[in-house]
Amino acid sequence: MVTIKRIIVLGSGRGSNFQALIDAERKNLFPGRIITFITDNPNAHAIERARKGEIPFFIIDFSLFHNKNQYEEKLLETMLSCAPDLIVLAGYMRIVGEKIVKQFKNHLINIHPALLPSFPGLNAQLQAIEYGVRITGCTIHFVTEEMDAGPIILQKEVYVDENENVESLAEKILAFEHKCLPYAVKLFCEDRLIINDRHVKILPRVS
Ligand code: GRF
Repeated sequence: MVTIKRIIVLGSGRGSNFQALIDAERKNLFPGRIITFITDNPNAHAIERARKGEIPFFIIDFSLFHNKNQYEEKLLETMLSCAPDLIVLAGYMRIVGEKIVKQFKNHLINIHPALLPSFPGLNAQLQAIEYGVRITGCTIHFVTEEMDAGPIILQKEVYVDENENVESLAEKILAFEHKCLPYAVKLFCEDRLIINDRHVKILPRVS
């Protein structure tokens, strides 16, 4: 039997993917509950979304720490205190350190606005436009020590039109992110993701 999963969402800014998860939870689209939102940025618009959604949140202001290690100690302590089953990086603009990645191995997922392994890191949409690809998209993957390189759960392609600019492309990709991320969370919450090395097998739905 599937148990209701405890989900933490981490984000640094606008939080539209976080909102997609809040909306999906409200519609019972996955057997999980967003128990906490955590941000490193006190000005993140996502905080407002947490408030409106009545989701408890923590602001762990990165700028108040002496170094990344200290910040991550606090982050880890906070996450552990929530006893999560799943942590979702949804627009979290920092590289998660080794200790946290190890602690939550196979329980930590990220969304990236490109078809990995193409265009990892920042400004993925700009990278895609500058390279001149015809197709890009979004990727949901498990997080490993190497940035944007963990086992891939889902990908969705998006066509790059003639005269596409970064904003229009980002908007097009975002619409798919908002569908793919809740679906990946659903697969995780239903215990349907089996990781075997680099490969993620998606089990069929048990009716
Ligand atoms: C998204 O494009 C996500 O893929 C990337 O950062 C953006 C965050 O957007 N990692 P939002 O904060 O979810 O609106």
